[in-house]
Amino acid sequence: MQQNLKASITGIGSYLPKKVLTNYDLEKMIDTSDDWIVKRTGIKERRIVENGLTTSDLAAKASLRAIKDAKVSPKNIDIIITSTITPDHFFPSTSCYIQRKIGATRACAFDILAACSGFIYAIAIGESFINSGTANTVLVVGAECLSKITDYSDRTTCVLFGDGAGAVILQKSRTMHEIISTNLAADGSQTDVLIMPGGGAKNPASIESVRKRMHFIQFRGREVFKLAINKLTNIIKETAKKNKLELEDIDLIIPHQSNLRIIEATMEKLGLPFEKVFVNIDKYGNTSSASVPIALDEARKTKRLRKGSIVMLVAFGGGLTWGASIIKW
Ligand code: UT7
Repeated sequence: MQQNLKASITGIGSYLPKKVLTNYDLEKMIDTSDDWIVKRTGIKERRIVENGLTTSDLAAKASLRAIKDAKVSPKNIDIIITSTITPDHFFPSTSCYIQRKIGATRACAFDILAACSGFIYAIAIGESFINSGTANTVLVVGAECLSKITDYSDRTTCVLFGDGAGAVILQKSRTMHEIISTNLAADGSQTDVLIMPGGGAKNPASIESVRKRMHFIQFRGREVFKLAINKLTNIIKETAKKNKLELEDIDLIIPHQSNLRIIEATMEKLGLPFEKVFVNIDKYGNTSSASVPIALDEARKTKRLRKGSIVMLVAFGGGLTWGASIIKW
């Protein structure tokens, strides 16, 4: 019976801008080296959006691919949920621009903000709309133009980030990839470790805020690094336990691509082999909300997802926020 079915991923799409920014390009811009960046982060290159294009442009292209993959019409979409920290504007929402660009004229549309964990948060919201029967077809998007809030004069941050978008369609399905459950968490006592301080109600845009470079991503790298490993390890264990799974039952972990060393250390702490994690940070860097759906799309295209396998999406980011979602493929 349709009522007993749960939200499933019925379509996936991603889009990366064509322009590539390599570590060698960065060597010409700041005091860094390809060797340092690869050793400390695992990143070799990242994509940068073309001049004049925005987050909703990347998001619309990824969404149309997910829509085609799910074999639905844009007119069938009931809800668009976009996770981004680089919206086209504070308001209106980027989801409203996406609605117009893909012709999803029936859909209601809104954005959510949970930084790098945002796609997992958005999945949880979309899943609830489907499971409650409020919606039949939900488009969930993670899209970023981080190059627009990256300070390319600061070598400690600018080597990490890139642009891109990924999207999924959620529907009830008898045969497709069921979302078993999603587990979310936050810690508001650590808001300062990863932040863009300028542009909001606390520090509205001013000559002073621009002079102090407050409209760029700032973080305390080593602190975030340690927190990420701890929170990711714990949520993976907790989510497995809640679903009565052993860690060994997980066939593939698709993590937010923040730093290869964070991913490696997490797998080591869990005692899981590196073959069980999907990594593409070398090509795209950290694309915040977009990294998990882009990685999910690539994992599928490279046949890392097999029917019946247990897949875990997991992310950690500013807020702090973190979360994990288990899918039966
Ligand atoms: O998704 C969440 C967002 N991600 C984050 O917030 C980042 C999490 N943190 C990290 O990924 C790592 O902490 C970084 C990659 C940012 C830095 O790696 P690290 O191993 O923690 O390096 P560090 O900050 O301890 O710096 C080591 C050295 C320093 O020089 P001294 O003081 O030892 O002389 C830095 O000045 O490396 C220097 N350094 C660089 N050298 C060459 C920092 N950035 C660079 C660079 N190129 N780009």
